[in-house]
Amino acid sequence: MCGIVGYIGKRDSVPIVLDALARLEYRGYDSAGIAVIDAQGNLVGSKSEGRLGRLVERLRDGEPLAGSVGLGHTRWATHGKPSDANAHPLGDCSGRIAVVHNGIIENYATLRAHLLERGHVFTSETDTEVIAHLIESHYNGDLLAAVRATLRELRGAYALGVMSNYDPEHLIFARNGASPLVVGIGEGEMFVASDTPAILKYTKREIILQEGELVVVGRDGWKLSDYDGKELERDVVQIAWDMGAAEKGGFKHFMLKEIFEQPRVIKETLSGRIDDLNQVTLAAELGDVTPERLRAIGKIAITGCGTAYYAGMVGMYLLRSLVHLPVEMEVASEFRYGDPVVDGNALTIAMSQSGETADTIEAVRIAKGAHSTVLGICNALGSHLSRVADATLFTRGGPEIGVAATKTYVSQVTVMTLFALYLAALRQSTPVDRLRAIADGTKLLPAAIDLLLNASDDVRRVAKQIRKAQSVLFLGRYVNFPTALEGALKLKEIAYIHAEGYAAGEMKHGPIALLDPAVPVIGIVTDGRVREKMLSNLMESRAREAPVIIVANYGDEEAAQVADHVFWVPKVDELLSPVVNIIPLQLLAYHIADLEGKDVDQPRNLAKTVTVE
Ligand code: AGP
Repeated sequence: MCGIVGYIGKRDSVPIVLDALARLEYRGYDSAGIAVIDAQGNLVGSKSEGRLGRLVERLRDGEPLAGSVGLGHTRWATHGKPSDANAHPLGDCSGRIAVVHNGIIENYATLRAHLLERGHVFTSETDTEVIAHLIESHYNGDLLAAVRATLRELRGAYALGVMSNYDPEHLIFARNGASPLVVGIGEGEMFVASDTPAILKYTKREIILQEGELVVVGRDGWKLSDYDGKELERDVVQIAWDMGAAEKGGFKHFMLKEIFEQPRVIKETLSGRIDDLNQVTLAAELGDVTPERLRAIGKIAITGCGTAYYAGMVGMYLLRSLVHLPVEMEVASEFRYGDPVVDGNALTIAMSQSGETADTIEAVRIAKGAHSTVLGICNALGSHLSRVADATLFTRGGPEIGVAATKTYVSQVTVMTLFALYLAALRQSTPVDRLRAIADGTKLLPAAIDLLLNASDDVRRVAKQIRKAQSVLFLGRYVNFPTALEGALKLKEIAYIHAEGYAAGEMKHGPIALLDPAVPVIGIVTDGRVREKMLSNLMESRAREAPVIIVANYGDEEAAQVADHVFWVPKVDELLSPVVNIIPLQLLAYHIADLEGKDVDQPRNLAKTVTVE
């Protein structure tokens, strides 16, 4: 949802800001812009509708810029269509103030009307531009004071950056709500970005801005305060990710690289969380969410958005099966308006890769307001979710750059599995031997996925056969119903093919009417309590002449007979099978999108992190 980059130091800021923006393009990519303070002390800039590449060309072909203080932005449009005029940075009337912004200023219309009455001239349709004009209207020789006065007038969730040649030695950034900002600390230079991978190449030391905070960065340091000027301390975090994690590493796309990282990611996710007796050990990580608190809960509510929600849904089946507690699921955007019934006896589990998704954060606020204990399952260290939740289990997926979530999905499902095992052991709701057997089984998952990755070419052959389909149905049941939903979401978001994930038993209540030889049906038929039912549902599809593709266990010839093609997968415990079964579906979506020449890592209309409602 828009990417922000700032640099102040001794080098030319332009290549650094553009490089960092390229790593943030996953956040938004409908226009981009940069402003610098040049050697003469002028504030100058360039912006362009379209991908960052267009801005780079523009700078190369005619509008070169240079300066050791720079501010850049890559946009995902909310207010005002993608255009040169609406691209950030946006300025005031004097041309001396530049602002970049991620989020929404909810009261911008009122502010804009007042500013227009006072003679300000606007050049864009954005909510952002009011910020620059407000700063101008408050400026009285002290830029920081003007920014503070402006912040007090803004309503909404945002991260913003301000640069001005009124004060060419500093950049000012502020954060309110679910719009992340990190400040990277270098030697005589400072970096600011919406996300760590953008600046990992330059520094691994950073501080993370929290809600209601403002930071002033200069060449030799940073000063953190609240909006009223009260100075704040912040520990510097040493980032453990290496630069390679944010590079394609020889793969054609980040998504493919991230799919291939999954065996390693699962090892990382499991590491240190299962002891020699195959007991799951999470107590230390769960901190205040103590065993006593967990023993006392009477129900569980799970929420999240998109892929994170589907990972949570696998968790719902695991928790019901192993812990025997009532578990409710609701997407975060509905949870917040749906009068959720959570209270002091409930555990609310919020799933989010970024930990910044606005709907999920708001759902957590509502759950906390109702006195529910909140557990976050999250990938990003220091994220908003991890700060507001009572405890967070980190998924340890490393940076995920492809907009389509892959490795973070399997790591979320893995963490959910560990948590269900832990809770079941605490509450003695499932025999210990059974829990230990499942925990032991998780150790086989990386090798199982490795096998599937080796069959990527086979998946590509199937992709070639169905790449022109207008519509595809994904069927699953029980723990693999979410696998069907997630497989369909992947195909929709990167290949732009209409796809539906369906609980296979529901087919005959409507969707079966869609079937004909042009609508491939993809069914998950691995071993377990619903295998035979799945086979019957797929027979029904075949009887309507739909091409049938299945995910089945090696050697299941009976299943193979209902299918035109089989994606073979190794047999694992049914409760662990979603982690394995999703792999061919991720690959299928990837190969179709690639064969069709789609922009795999940056699909149209999407953004990696959705920090607006
Ligand atoms: C997944 O492929 C999507 N890009 C999207 O559904 C994503 O999972 C969703 O927006 C939630 O994001 P989060 O995990 O960062 O909260």
